Amino acid sequence: MNIKAVKGFKDILPQDSPKWRFVEEKAREIFSHFGFREIRVPVLEKTELFRRSIGESTDIVEKEMYTFLDKSDEYLSLRPEATASIIRAFIEHHLYTVDPIAKLYTIGPMFRRERPQKGRLRQFHQIDVEILGYNDPRIDAELILMLVQFLKDVGLRDYQIEVNSLGCSSCRPIFREAIVDYLNKREWDLCQDCQRRLYVNPLRVFDCKVPSCGEIVNFAPSIKDYLCESCNSHFAVFCESLARFAIPYQVNAKMVRGLDYYTRTAFEITTTALGAQNAVAGGGRYDGLVKSLGGPDIPGIGFAVGMERLLEIIPNPPELREENPFLFIAALGELAQSLAYHLCNTLRINGIPVEMNYCERSLKSQLKRADKLRCPYTLIIGESEIQENKAILRDMRSSEQVLICLNDVFEKIQWLYREGKR
Ligand code: HAM
Repeated sequence: MNIKAVKGFKDILPQDSPKWRFVEEKAREIFSHFGFREIRVPVLEKTELFRRSIGESTDIVEKEMYTFLDKSDEYLSLRPEATASIIRAFIEHHLYTVDPIAKLYTIGPMFRRERPQKGRLRQFHQIDVEILGYNDPRIDAELILMLVQFLKDVGLRDYQIEVNSLGCSSCRPIFREAIVDYLNKREWDLCQDCQRRLYVNPLRVFDCKVPSCGEIVNFAPSIKDYLCESCNSHFAVFCESLARFAIPYQVNAKMVRGLDYYTRTAFEITTTALGAQNAVAGGGRYDGLVKSLGGPDIPGIGFAVGMERLLEIIPNPPELREENPFLFIAALGELAQSLAYHLCNTLRINGIPVEMNYCERSLKSQLKRADKLRCPYTLIIGESEIQENKAILRDMRSSEQVLICLNDVFEKIQWLYREGKR
């Protein structure tokens, strides 16, 4: 029986890799203009980390984590997101003592055991960005400006930016009380999951996809009527700053995000091109998270882009670099094979991508392979050429062939390669 990949886990095949790399390289380039540096964190963490940050009663922690009891009698989980791990590393390595402001990003796989469907995988990839140390609302807008620039540069056209404020530890409890009060009166009309959520985490009812719960939520009290003065002014300056950069946005007071650590600013980038899984990116502020995980009282804000979803809806970039070899060596006969073997690897270690055939094939089939690999040049070496200390260099586009001396081959190819790169 053939072994297949695990459900919801996908291979990224060679033909798709250039697009992935293009997106990753664009992210690195733009983030570096804004002063971000890369951090790489493990894919496995203590389960406790996610329980305490994302929240015990979120869908991610309750139902979606890949968790197991390690031989050391400790529960470990594959990371469902990167924020918690980055904050853990930030605290563990006292990064705040090096610089009071940390601007970090990471790119890598995340794991959530959700029901796989279009745009929803069990292993998916995120580009995750975090800023620690600022509570200025202009930073919130700056982060969105950077995200928008990135999305534009990778070719995303139609999307919406939804923003909201989730309040802080002083105003959110009052909103929560109002919600509980409202939902309590409608408890029996809620789905069973939401009836339970009402007691453990009532704001999660806002995320419910069941239509009858959506109806109830539509008439629920709105967070914007409960924000304290300080949250109100934070949100106002944030919105003004977005407008200053002409970033179009919509306020969505129903957007609560699926993770519990958020405070104040929350945002999502959505698109109609993806069907039900319409969020390409999401993020927000988490001013209490560092402290709650045992670090100093340092505010933070960040976002993550879902790479599979983004790649699905952006066009192939025109400047996609081909990964084709520059030269194919078609060798005929044992002596030619041995010479080609040496030449091919000498050129490669000198930085020129070269390919050859190791099994004896006709010239026709070797030229066919060179064509398929889209090599601009083929070097043909046969027994008679060797006797004359020559090789044939064929321009694959024009089919023009020239004889060159074997002693000059290395320099000639090197020269052509450099010229071609200009
Ligand atoms: P999130 O909204 O859970 O936020 O995920 C961010 C993005 O990851 C989503 O908008 C979506 O594009 C992608 N995504 C999530 N789940 C899946 C899935 N099962 N399959 C494919 N793509 C998926 C976070 O993860 C936060 N850590 C973001 C953040 C960073 N907040 C502050 N800093």
